[in-house]
Amino acid sequence: MNSQRITKCLFPAAGYGTRFLPATKATPKEMLPVLTKPLIQYGVEEALEAGMDTMAIVTGRGKRAIEDHFDISYELEHQIKGTSKEPLLREIRSVLNKCTFSYTRQVEMRGLGHAILTGETLIGNEAFAVVLADDLCDNRDEQAGVLSQMTKLYDKYKCSIVAIEEIPMDKTNKYGVIAGEEIEEGLFRITDMVEKPEPKDAPSNLAIIGRYILTPDIFDILRVTEPGKGGEIQITDALLEQAKQGKVLACKFKGTRFDCGSVDGFVEATNYFYEKSKEV
Ligand code: G1P
Repeated sequence: MNSQRITKCLFPAAGYGTRFLPATKATPKEMLPVLTKPLIQYGVEEALEAGMDTMAIVTGRGKRAIEDHFDISYELEHQIKGTSKEPLLREIRSVLNKCTFSYTRQVEMRGLGHAILTGETLIGNEAFAVVLADDLCDNRDEQAGVLSQMTKLYDKYKCSIVAIEEIPMDKTNKYGVIAGEEIEEGLFRITDMVEKPEPKDAPSNLAIIGRYILTPDIFDILRVTEPGKGGEIQITDALLEQAKQGKVLACKFKGTRFDCGSVDGFVEATNYFYEKSKEV
């Protein structure tokens, strides 16, 4: 089971996006565009680049626009056929040709761990990737995207892996934070992890960003994981359990990541991708 290539990517996308109200009142936060492309499409393209072809999306109420986005709009295509606007749909059309999308709804908001468990029905008994679309990653100067870097490590180690980056110590309460022993340059075997600790309680300044590779035993662990920080079922707590039972790795990825769940990060990402678009 664990020797399989990773083909499925799960996108928890049920959250309300309250930090972006009123924009997210009737629009899913995953559909907010950086330039002309919605956040979730960047995530799907990163998964495609890593060789995945099955996108599994955990949605909630008010998220219909995501399904419509990853579908063909015949009316629109007919309307712009042969005009100068036609190329604007080329990228999304090519995404649709390369992968499938399936959806399930999280009917209660009980945390990221619960959202991932809700996705079990779309994943089954195999290792899979998780992308939190509001962490937007780019690999401008690197060969491979973050998920590609992680799947390569998975091929070698066959265990759950999280992506991490160094953060300022006063920001630890925004992230899952790990402690571990470095087994290769930039690769840690996790010995401890804490969800959103205050700086004084943080085991390090190595923060988990929204990219995970998970082995399917995580579902059984999540089923019995008690609510943790904020009264929610935390993937961080389930991963710590998995780390105690076996092995979980954390890799310092190469590339740039923007926290598009915050207005500051979103503006930074917009400026960055705007500059980048001018380069070509
Ligand atoms: C979630 C996880 C957290 C992780 C973060 C990355 O938190 O719970 O461990 O560091 O994503 O973006 P959220 O940002 O959804 O509150």
